[in-house]
Amino acid sequence: MRRFRLAALAAVAAFSASVAVVALASATANGLPAYTDGYQSWPKLNRKPVTGGSPAHGGTKNVYASKRKVGKAFPNGTVIVKSIARPGDRRARPSQVAVMRKVAGRWQFVEYQLSGTRYTVLAQGQLCLSCHVRARANDYVFTKR
Ligand code: HEC
Repeated sequence: MRRFRLAALAAVAAFSASVAVVALASATANGLPAYTDGYQSWPKLNRKPVTGGSPAHGGTKNVYASKRKVGKAFPNGTVIVKSIARPGDRRARPSQVAVMRKVAGRWQFVEYQLSGTRYTVLAQGQLCLSCHVRARANDYVFTKR
């Protein structure tokens, strides 16, 4: 029991530490990082809205990429945004936004949830990578044109 509690505490500490790092990145008024600005006008990786797919991202989804793949990989600085409209969602903005950003050859993963008028961090990091590793052959990106 005690060991379980310690593990839970460690997990919470690790989670808040990583959230602090994200908070340092400059955020726009809506709570999303500034590097996602204007993603709605970036080229889409999906032809039609994606429905179904991973239970990790249930809803109707569109995937936008700020840069094109060069050969087999996306270049450094690429930002990929997946907007997720949940079933029954009537708001103008998607209720969840999942983001991958390539920095120094590695993807950073963060998913945001709309709460009220601002996006807040829902989940991030290793949890995301542990599944996206299945798309390693396509630079960890599932959605292809
Ligand atoms: C259980 C597997 C799984 C987990 C965990 C997961 N994803 Fe995904 N993700 C997918 C799949 C499958 C797709 C393809 C589109 C779809 O079905 O939604 C996807 C698509 C994406 C995309 C669009 C680019 C692409 O790969 O197609 C982004 C961005 C993204 N996920 C971010 C995240 C973030 C951030 C997290 C962690 C908070 C995360 N994902 C966790 C399976 C997962």
